[in-house]
Amino acid sequence: MQDFLTRLPKAELHLHIEGSLEPELMFSLAQRNGVALPYGSVEEVRAAYDFDDLQSFLNLYYQGMAVLRTADDFFDLAMDYFRRAHAEGVVHVELSFDPQAHLSRGIRMDVQIEGLTKAMRLAERELGLTSALIMSFLRDRSAAEAMGVLDQAAPYWEMIDAVGLDSAELGHPPSKFAAVFERAKALGLPRVAHAGEEGPASYIREAMEQLDVCRIDHGVRCLEDPALVAELVERRLPLTICPLSNVRLKVVDRLDQHPLPALLEAGLTLTLNSDDPAYFGGGMLENFKACERAFGWSQETFIDLARNAIEAAFMSEARRDELL
Ligand code: ADE
Ligand code: ZN
Repeated sequence: MQDFLTRLPKAELHLHIEGSLEPELMFSLAQRNGVALPYGSVEEVRAAYDFDDLQSFLNLYYQGMAVLRTADDFFDLAMDYFRRAHAEGVVHVELSFDPQAHLSRGIRMDVQIEGLTKAMRLAERELGLTSALIMSFLRDRSAAEAMGVLDQAAPYWEMIDAVGLDSAELGHPPSKFAAVFERAKALGLPRVAHAGEEGPASYIREAMEQLDVCRIDHGVRCLEDPALVAELVERRLPLTICPLSNVRLKVVDRLDQHPLPALLEAGLTLTLNSDDPAYFGGGMLENFKACERAFGWSQETFIDLARNAIEAAFMSEARRDELL
């Protein structure tokens, strides 16, 4: 089964590139840039990754990314991830990045995008791995700031495949960003949003109705609203599920208690993803393997999940035909 899961062509639709920063690269970038870290060793960093909830993770996630300063740093971050993903049988990655988390530290948008897109081009040339770029807004900052970031990204609109919404969910409903997403829609940018990770099912409905998203990131709490589930099924709106993330952020106590079997049973369009692999104990392959251990799924189930991701991906029709 492990060989099968490795060979299965996998597309990853929910990956925060800053969350792929492994402690080893964190240390080498800290040294390169003269940034002081509050840790003495790689082991100390890993030991600190013991989270109670989303916010306790976000605190370390924003702290860790302080080592990213130059375009080369963003390039190395993404290229390191693409190489690991490729070795795990990942054929397409949709990486989201958080421009505000870098702009607020004085790192310009062009530095971020130049480094990331250079790695995306090299990964396609060298590894045959395709990718898409999702620019995410931080929902715990103001809608006005997000609108400013969207405007500031004008020179890069052509390079951005979608906009997203992430960070601390509770108290920051999708409706807060309705105007920003309306503008993104007017610009022709597809939209995705985290909803129903820690927040209630009503946030998923808001993301559908007020942000007009084409995918929901997480969405595991949709089961609390049967009418919402029926609508998600009817519209075949994909959910990007992140199994190991949900365990590490205590959305569920253990993977064998995860609602994944119930979500499948309901007929929802599901995909498996790693979210923040450096922080949550593994990448795509580890997530697939953990589901095999927890749920004993057949090869057919994994083939269906992998196909869902390819069908829901931002990729050319030619690339989709090649992968399906
Ligand atoms: N940013 C990075 N990972 C996230 C997650 N799992 N939920 C919300 N925001 C995030
Ligand atoms: Zn996420």
